[in-house]
Amino acid sequence: MRTVFTSLLALYVTSAVVAFPRYGSLAGLSERQLAEIIPTLDAKLPPQPPGPQGFTGAKLVDDAAHPWRPLRRGDIRGPCPGLNTLASHGYLPRDGVVTPAQLIVAVQEGLNFDHQTARVATYLAHLGDGNLVTDLISIGEKTTRTGPDPPRPAIVGGLNNHGTFEGDGSLTRGDFFDGDNHSFNQTLFDQFIEFSNRYGNGFYNLTVAAELRFRRIQQSIATNPTFSMVGLRHITIYGEATFPVNFFVDGRRTGAQAGQLSIPDATSFFRDMRFPRGFFRSATAGGATGADILFNAHPIQPGRNVGGVNNFVEDQSLGGILEPCRFYTQFVNTTIRGLYPRPTGVLRRNLIINAGFLYDALSPPDCPQVFPWGQL
Ligand code: HEM
Repeated sequence: MRTVFTSLLALYVTSAVVAFPRYGSLAGLSERQLAEIIPTLDAKLPPQPPGPQGFTGAKLVDDAAHPWRPLRRGDIRGPCPGLNTLASHGYLPRDGVVTPAQLIVAVQEGLNFDHQTARVATYLAHLGDGNLVTDLISIGEKTTRTGPDPPRPAIVGGLNNHGTFEGDGSLTRGDFFDGDNHSFNQTLFDQFIEFSNRYGNGFYNLTVAAELRFRRIQQSIATNPTFSMVGLRHITIYGEATFPVNFFVDGRRTGAQAGQLSIPDATSFFRDMRFPRGFFRSATAGGATGADILFNAHPIQPGRNVGGVNNFVEDQSLGGILEPCRFYTQFVNTTIRGLYPRPTGVLRRNLIINAGFLYDALSPPDCPQVFPWGQL
């Protein structure tokens, strides 16, 4: 009897391990779980990040080589309208499971992210949410489910993971506390339209972004007892609100039309994950230009609700938009090290390599590199 039980248990453990997705994050797993799972994965040596693109001007990106296609069962999409769109046009693998190198190439090519922004965003995301052994990351979680979730030993939500890259107070997505932190939210998008009408004559621009950004933070402080905006989230919350202005406006618009995103075009990206028909990417490669304008319009320091709603307490411990060096140091030493306190073997090697890629990309001035797992 004992033998039958033991073999059944072994079978269960084996199938749970075999079922571990090749793109699932290994963050937070116990040493025993890591020891079981890692040998089942196809380990990769992370390649050097790809270089910048040669041509960085406007060009047709809704082209014949990249047709939009509707989701197939099992395709993964997530909280980022830029990456969702790139996947639905085939700039990224359409199933939403990607490598860091593919991310860098796609955001440069398809939406004209500049080289530094592409690398920084990629390695922040990969360290926080990727599978560091297989060198894969998913841009979210499966969109269609055929039944109850299979037994999973850990979080596998890729960019849907809350508290690493994904955070509270998004413009078009709800907070994790409210139950869905990644799907397009029509009610929030109605507010996006309302603000574009009120402050931008029907267009989303930096003036609208400053007011909407502030409103969404206030809403989360008032409704989400777990609201948090510290470290990376203090940077992305302002940075991401500029992206629709900088990247979702057709690159042929110049003069007064530049930096003015129409509601039909915003709907195309945010809701439909699709370039407006015949879309040209931005005329210059860029990043979060304008984030300082949004912050200065309504400066809110990093912080979180403590003990309930409407009790926002400043917390500078992980840095923020005004403290890039503290942010970098704490992100690696506290956030990522907290997810991987004692990595060994290939996991440790790949953590060190990817943390090095992040440091190279950020090149924070007067800010020494940190090595929480030693050096190779
Ligand atoms: C490697 C590159 C990228 C990564 C890893 C990434 C990741 C993410 C993640 C995790 C979020 C969710 C944050 C939140 O909770 O609100 C997000 C939001 C966002 N991303 Fe990306 N992203 C990338 C590139 C892009 C590009 C190329 C664009 C557009 C050009 C873009 C536009 C946006 C926008 C507008 C939001 C805010 C959505 C909202 O607040 O509702 N991202 N991104």
